Amino acid sequence: MPVLTVIGAQWGDEGKGKIVHYLSQGADWVVRYQGGDNAGHTVVFGGESFALHLVPSGILFSRTRNAIGNGVVVNPAALQREVRGLEERGIRVRGRLYVSLQAHVILPHHLALDRHREQGRDVIGTTLKGIGPCYEDKVARRGVRVADYLEPETFRELLAGALAAHEAELGRKEAARLKREALADYRSLRRFLEPFCEDTGRLLAAALSSGRRVLLESAQGAMLDLDHGTYPYVTSSNPVSGGAGVGSGLPPTAIDAVLGVAKAYTTRVGLGPFPTEMSESLAGRLRDKGREYGATTGRPRRVGWLDLPQLRSAVRVSGIGRLALTKLDTLSGTGPIRVCTAYRWKNRLLRDFPASRRAQREARPVYRELPGFSGELSACRNFAELPAAARRYVRWVEAELHCPAAIVSVGASHEQTVLHSEGSLWG
Ligand code: IMP
Repeated sequence: MPVLTVIGAQWGDEGKGKIVHYLSQGADWVVRYQGGDNAGHTVVFGGESFALHLVPSGILFSRTRNAIGNGVVVNPAALQREVRGLEERGIRVRGRLYVSLQAHVILPHHLALDRHREQGRDVIGTTLKGIGPCYEDKVARRGVRVADYLEPETFRELLAGALAAHEAELGRKEAARLKREALADYRSLRRFLEPFCEDTGRLLAAALSSGRRVLLESAQGAMLDLDHGTYPYVTSSNPVSGGAGVGSGLPPTAIDAVLGVAKAYTTRVGLGPFPTEMSESLAGRLRDKGREYGATTGRPRRVGWLDLPQLRSAVRVSGIGRLALTKLDTLSGTGPIRVCTAYRWKNRLLRDFPASRRAQREARPVYRELPGFSGELSACRNFAELPAAARRYVRWVEAELHCPAAIVSVGASHEQTVLHSEGSLWG
C-alpha cells in the first residue's frame, strides 16, 4: 500500500506536472492536497500539451483515479472549464475524478478581495485566483465547503454570513453585487459539481487497504509554504509534505516516501526575497530558453542560480528522500554554472534558509562556480549519455544535499526523462 508524496522543493514551477504525470503510470490514485487553480501544471504527452490547474495530472492516464482533497480550495466555475476542456480533447473525466466534500469553495467575493488587496499597498503578487481570501474564510470558520455548497439553503445562509463579514472592506453595494454574482450561476454549477463530490478520505483509505498505490501531489513549492516559506510572500496553504496528510485525509503514518522536484536552477513568480536572483541579461536568456512564463498567469518568472541553503531547508522540512532534477537541458550552453552554497549575513555564514525577513532580504549568496556544459541534452535517455560536466553537476548537488536525484529531466515531454538512481521511488 505505498503512498508517495511529490512536492515542489523551490518556489513552485519546478516541473511537478511532468514528474507527477510520469509517475502516475505506476499510480492507482493521484491526489491534490492543497492550493487551487493558482497552480498550473504543464504536461506534454503524446505530442500534445495540457495545462492543468485543479485536476490532478493522473487524469491523463485512463486507468488512474484522481482526487481533489479536502485541503484544496475549489472554484466550481474554473473546475467546470477545466473538465470541459479535457473532455473536448477526448479525456474521460467523469467517474475518474472525485472532489472532497470538505474542500472549501472559492466564491466571487474571494476573487474580488484578492484583486482589491493586490491594488493596495502591501502587494504579494498573487495569481488573483481568490486563494488567500478563501483560506482566510476557512480559518475564520465562515467558509463554504463543497458539502455546504451542495445544499442550497445552507449555501445561501453561509454566503450571506461571509459577505456580511467582508462588507466593511468591499462596500455594501459591491457586497450585494457579489452575492448576486454567486447566486447567478449557482444552480448550474451545483448541478455540474454534485456528481464528482465524495468523501475522498474514505475512498483513499479503502484504496490503501486494498493495496492500491496513491500519489499525493503538491501544488506550488516548499518556499511558498505558509509556515516554512518566505512569509508573507507565500501562498496560503502548506505545500510541504506535512500538508499532504492533512489535505488528503490520510494519516501521516501512511506516507512512505517523499520526492522533491527541483529545477537545475531556480525561479519564482510574484514578489518576495530571492537571494540567488540573476542579472536580467542572463535571466532573460534562461527565461527564453526554458520558457519561464507562468502557466496560470503568463507572468515572466524571475530566474536565479541553484540555492543549496534553500534546498537544504526544503529537504529537511519535507523529509525529501529523493529528488527529481528538472530542466538540466536549459542550463546547457550558459557557461560556468554558479551554485549558492551558503549565505553571508552580518558577518555570519548561514547554511540554512533564515527565518528573519531582514536576513532573507539582505543575505548575500556565497557561490561556488562549476564548469558549464554544452550540447543538446534533450535527446539523452540515460545518465551515461549526458555530457560529463552535466553528470558532475548532478552528482555534486546530490552529495551536497545528501539526497540522490532519482530522475533527471531533460525536456518537457514524457520521453525526455532520465532515470538515475536505483530502487523504487515508492519507498
Ligand atoms: P496566491 O497563491 O495566488 O495567493 O499567490 C501567492 C504567491 O504564490 C505569489 O507569489 C504567487 O506568484 C505564488 N504562486 C501561487 N501559485 C503558484 C504556482 O503554481 N507556481 C508558482 N508560484 C505560485
